[in-house]
Amino acid sequence: MKITVIGTGYVGLVSGACMAEMGNDVLCLDLDPEKIRILKEGGIPIHEPGLDAVVARNVEAGRLHFTTDVAEAVRFGTIQFIAVGTPPDEDGSADLQYVLSAARNIGRLMTDYKVVVDKSTVPVGTADKVKAAIADELAKRGQEMEFAVVSNPEFLKEGAAVEDFMRPDRIVVGADDERAIHLMRALYAPFQRNRDKLVVMDVRSAELTKYAANAMLATRISFMNELALLADRMGADIEMVRQGIGSDPRIGYHFLYAGCGYGGSCFPKDVKALIRTARENGQDLKVLQAVEDANDVQKMVLVDKIVAKFGEDLSGRCFALWGLAFKPNTDDMREAPSRVIINELFRRGATVTAYDPVAMTETKRIYGDEPRLTLADKPMDALEGADALLIVTEWKEFRSPDFERIKSALKQPVIFDGRNLYEPEVPRAAGIEYHCIGRSAS
Ligand SMILES: NC(=O)c1ccc[n+]([C@@H]2O[C@H](COP(=O)([O-])OP(=O)(O)OC[C@H]3O[C@@H](n4cnc5c(N)ncnc54)[C@H](O)[C@@H]3O)[C@@H](O)[C@H]2O)c1
Repeated sequence: MKITVIGTGYVGLVSGACMAEMGNDVLCLDLDPEKIRILKEGGIPIHEPGLDAVVARNVEAGRLHFTTDVAEAVRFGTIQFIAVGTPPDEDGSADLQYVLSAARNIGRLMTDYKVVVDKSTVPVGTADKVKAAIADELAKRGQEMEFAVVSNPEFLKEGAAVEDFMRPDRIVVGADDERAIHLMRALYAPFQRNRDKLVVMDVRSAELTKYAANAMLATRISFMNELALLADRMGADIEMVRQGIGSDPRIGYHFLYAGCGYGGSCFPKDVKALIRTARENGQDLKVLQAVEDANDVQKMVLVDKIVAKFGEDLSGRCFALWGLAFKPNTDDMREAPSRVIINELFRRGATVTAYDPVAMTETKRIYGDEPRLTLADKPMDALEGADALLIVTEWKEFRSPDFERIKSALKQPVIFDGRNLYEPEVPRAAGIEYHCIGRSAS
């Protein structure tokens, strides 16, 4: 099949590369010339495990191409995937300007039947807006041409995106056009050889399904974070509680880890957007509002513990920070808890020396030459002369450190662990004061 992917970011590049891997001809469009330049020169503009090999293999095979040329992109694919960003607008709603601009480009330039697929996460009713935008552009040209709009939300996880796309749990397709459904079935057949994973539904239900999935996952995290705060007050251990409830198959173990808040490019904005959509439609989503409020509190939990130990005025103090990305295996720092923590420490007069295995370039892009932030080349280098160590992302390389070295490098042997990486008795046995989340009992 001939496929155009509009937007070559975390979702677009992974989807495009994986569809090429299955033998399709794929053209990825982005308006950012720098991204396309990097890709054309054989590089990868993001960090995503395993993606470089899939991209290289399919470029080499002549199935995967990149362009900034909108007309070429519209001409190329019968299927046009829209995978552009949908960032939060000022009022929390999803900003649809990029989606609608992509739709207008299709309407302006198409010359034959197109299946336009919304892969971006978009509020209920967006497919109708996309349809109207394309129809409007066709009308301006005095043309009548057949096209279908399909909702096909993406469920991949950054850090495991290639694996998720190649072996999806489910493929949600919202469509009311038989020809488009047939094409989507054919496109996704190679990704579901052991069982049918396609869940075909109406367009609006598909749009809502994506928000429901992220809202549910965010709810589990905020629920555990609030219980962790209670556990700290009551002398209980949230890790024991997690194991106690996770063993119930109705609950399961996933997404029940207490920590210093969720971040990333999806949960915060999708929770906000769903609350907003609901409000616009006369419904208050009280549970979800609480999920968001609890997360705002949680992003401050390490700062609160630091202030309790060192006082409100942190001037002259330096903190070592491990983990800048919003989660492991990605360089994505959108809405990362690390950013809230760093800014709160700056506000109180402290400086920060930080390390992350892959997010250093992104950190430099965000913070520029901020004098209060130093980047260390190795985790241990960040500790020299620091007042305490903060752990913000649960990278594997932080899981089994040399606590004796940590102790001797720090000015004071104190760890504030926002990801509960260690059994508390282990750093404590090495003489380190260890603060974690919801484990005051241990
Ligand atoms: N990142 C994830 O883990 C993830 C997972 C599932 C769904 N999503 C959703 O997928 C969508 C894309 O997310 P992302 O993380 O890949 O975003 P991203 O910011 O990494 O990529 C979006 C890309 O679209 C490009 N773009 C914007 N307007 C364009 C246009 N008119 N034509 C061509 N290119 C254009 C931008 O330059 C950018 O490179 C969002 O709606 C997001 O919510 C993301």
